[in-house]
Amino acid sequence: MDTVVLRHAGAEVEVYLFGGTLCSWKTADGQERIFVSPAAVFDGKKAIRGGVPLVFPQFGQPDKSMPQHGFARSSLWSLKALTDNADHSVLVLGLEDSEATRALFPFPFQLEFTVVLSAVSLRMSLTSRNTGDSPFNFQSLLHTYFAVPSIGDVAVRGLAGRKFIDKVDGGAEKKESAAQLLVPSFTDRVYSDPAGVATESKDVVVANKDGGAMYAVSNGATVGGAPRAVDVVVWNPYAEASPGDLPPPAFESFVCVEPGLVATAHELAPGAEATVSQMIMPF
Ligand code: BG6
Repeated sequence: MDTVVLRHAGAEVEVYLFGGTLCSWKTADGQERIFVSPAAVFDGKKAIRGGVPLVFPQFGQPDKSMPQHGFARSSLWSLKALTDNADHSVLVLGLEDSEATRALFPFPFQLEFTVVLSAVSLRMSLTSRNTGDSPFNFQSLLHTYFAVPSIGDVAVRGLAGRKFIDKVDGGAEKKESAAQLLVPSFTDRVYSDPAGVATESKDVVVANKDGGAMYAVSNGATVGGAPRAVDVVVWNPYAEASPGDLPPPAFESFVCVEPGLVATAHELAPGAEATVSQMIMPF
């Protein structure tokens, strides 16, 4: 399947046009920072297991007639732009509505996935634009699989005090009390700001629980040009919930920390756009 490779100051990312899925980010030290399952299927049909699948227009499957996490991650994207300057290299992929998408989601739209690679960071953003005449409801998310040495040693810092939906506990609403979230077993949580406004940062650090930071992650979202509280999903299935294309012990090698507009559906007015972004600084 076709990929686009972006290189900048010794760093490199590789993005599949299928799903617009970023499947590799190697920092200048040669270290791979993004996890892809050893059993990922690259058949141009099934979403790639790992990387950064792009979720739109639904998260999960509230609409059963549409695939889980929508169709963007299993659609063929096109290359819109490649630019480069001394500070960074930029790749833009696009996806528009088609007969196939309108059969599932009857609205004209444009999506843009922008990747900005610098010597010290990776920034990704997913912009959804309503190109039709009527409003539509949507959810969107960057489903980032961070490579980690061992999930049992991972701590996600920066979520204390936030509300979350615990999908592993029947969707119970809870409040995070821990200074750092450990991931010792199947974890599937949607952290959100109940006010729905960007009053709090959702920046997190993915760290080794006994030691240093691995990734400093700055998440953001806007809807209709205004900043919105970005939701953050933390997911690892362990063996218990590993899907078929993620055979154990592959779950040990990643943690998903996913910024999105997902806790509720958002309305996008004609001509308006919404963006979800993630800036990652690796250590
Ligand atoms: C997460 C969801 O974002 O993605 C989980 O919170 C889901 O509920 C996971 O299981 C993986 O989804 P999929 O469709 O890629 O298997």
